[in-house]
Amino acid sequence: MCGIVGYIGNNAVADVLLDGLKSLEYRGYDSSGIALNDNAGFDVFKAGGKLNNLFDVIRNDAQKIKNPTSGIGHIRWATHGKATIDNAHPHLSNDGKLVLVHNGIIENYKELKAELEQEGFVFHSQTDTETAVHVIDREYKKCGSLEEAVRRGVQKLSGAFAFCIMHKDEADKIIAVRKNAPLIIGLSKNENYIASDIPAVIGKVKKIIYLNDGELAVVTRNSVVVSDLAGNILEKKAENIGFNPEIISKHGYKHFMLKEINEQPDIVRKVLARHVKDVFSPVDADGVNLNIDWNKVENISIIACGTSLHAAMVAKYIWEDWLGIPVNVEAASEYIYRKNTTGKGSLVIGISQSGETADTITAVKQAKEKGAKILIVTNREDSSIVRYADSVLPLEAGIEISVAATKSYTAQLLAMYWVGLYAVEQRNSLSAKNLADLKQGLLELPAKMEEVLSNAEKIKQVAENLNKYKSLIYIARGANQASALEGALKLKEISYINANGYAAGELKHGPIALLDENMPVVAVLAPGITYAKMLSNCEEVKARNAKLIAVTSVKDKAAESLFEYILPVPETEEHLSPLLLNIPMQLLAYYMADSLGREVDQPRNLAKSVTVE
Ligand code: F6R
Repeated sequence: MCGIVGYIGNNAVADVLLDGLKSLEYRGYDSSGIALNDNAGFDVFKAGGKLNNLFDVIRNDAQKIKNPTSGIGHIRWATHGKATIDNAHPHLSNDGKLVLVHNGIIENYKELKAELEQEGFVFHSQTDTETAVHVIDREYKKCGSLEEAVRRGVQKLSGAFAFCIMHKDEADKIIAVRKNAPLIIGLSKNENYIASDIPAVIGKVKKIIYLNDGELAVVTRNSVVVSDLAGNILEKKAENIGFNPEIISKHGYKHFMLKEINEQPDIVRKVLARHVKDVFSPVDADGVNLNIDWNKVENISIIACGTSLHAAMVAKYIWEDWLGIPVNVEAASEYIYRKNTTGKGSLVIGISQSGETADTITAVKQAKEKGAKILIVTNREDSSIVRYADSVLPLEAGIEISVAATKSYTAQLLAMYWVGLYAVEQRNSLSAKNLADLKQGLLELPAKMEEVLSNAEKIKQVAENLNKYKSLIYIARGANQASALEGALKLKEISYINANGYAAGELKHGPIALLDENMPVVAVLAPGITYAKMLSNCEEVKARNAKLIAVTSVKDKAAESLFEYILPVPETEEHLSPLLLNIPMQLLAYYMADSLGREVDQPRNLAKSVTVE
């Protein structure tokens, strides 16, 4: 949550910072601000709401910008204190000489604040962050060195932080330091950058240094010196930046979400080309260190949040069937507080697109401490969660900018499918025919996904007819129960229409009371053992006058009259159907939200990486 940037160099500092913040908007958009250092002191500009407001503030106050040589910036997802200008970063010390931006949470801020107030420090915000400013400032006043003050100050803080810090009397440097929150340094000639994430430096630098927890960097125009909190200098390797600038362009799509939905067939094609080459070859782990003896795994727990949790639910359904191993799926935020039976024979899989979700990281860390083997499934191999991994399974979905997860969900499902089949081959737990059929089914997916996407215009029309409703219900059975939850989540998060997903069999145990002509029901129908029962549930819905929308891979003329709208997908095997059935629901949510004028890529109150528990 929150994005921070820093820059020192010859380019127009305000523009560089704003540009960096623009590409970190997915991390939060409650308020923003920058501090510019022109050697005579700091000019601080802040704005509430979206980053565009900060652009306006700076445009209007352009004459106030002197000749800055460095600066820091922040985009906020509010945790402590409302999204007001006072709470927006950067925060200044009482004498105005020290300024910082912060991503993370200072957990002991209440105690520190009480102590600092007693000592006469004055607070101007409700944030936890302001305590850090005063703690470091207090140290500076004792030792007179910014580097030393930061080193001493951060050791008094508990919780998570990534900071960029400047001091008026040491105008040639920015200090960057982190614990449990990401931070990178981008290296270039006569200039250096600091950022929470790579998109902020894409196209600007070719080499980056990843800071690890407990590392502090003194960044000047011509040097970056990294040390630990005891002051020992560390040799850090600069790595080539692995992202192509192209990926942060919308490529003509109105929103990143629509672009990312449309990328799905190619992602699936690319992943299959590496791991499931044809029907007869064994699944190829190809460079993925699946350092797991599948014959020794006694139980599996999959831990995740949100959309990633839905991918885990599908995996449980499929893997228990294919592998015969008990699979427990749990929201990471719940796993943490429960006595569980994870132990040495356990395989714990953490699924996280960002790899920065605090709940999932904490849960995985706990599981590791209990002796479980840890497999991390993530779209960001450079993220914090991989620290705890015995094996890492990269999603290869490419960077996802839209806050609502789409392509990463598909990539998560696909990862769980191919690894599932890989494990099947180790355990010999399916017949050769069954295995070959599943591989064939996977290989046919990209073309089938393209067929679904070519139906977008029809889905858009359906969306425009449904956007007047205040509430929708999604139902499904079997592996697609998660598809119903995911369809509903996608709709509510970007359109703000209330949407709830249910196992269809549960409808009659309560939610059916909600049904009338004002409550459309989206029914996800896959072929196989759940189909007949799903049709019965649809009859029950119809009998209560609710409009039914089918999302289905089953061609069933006899059932067509039940439905007001049918969003068809090509026929596919039952277990593989979640990969296809999800796509019309992504498009439905997208077009409903867009037709209501919502800010699709940046829904209110959300952020892409949820780095707080
Ligand atoms: C929904 C969405 C969130 C994330 C959740 C976990 O569209 O994006 O529900 O899935 O915050 O995030 P990761 O996968 O990064 O751990």
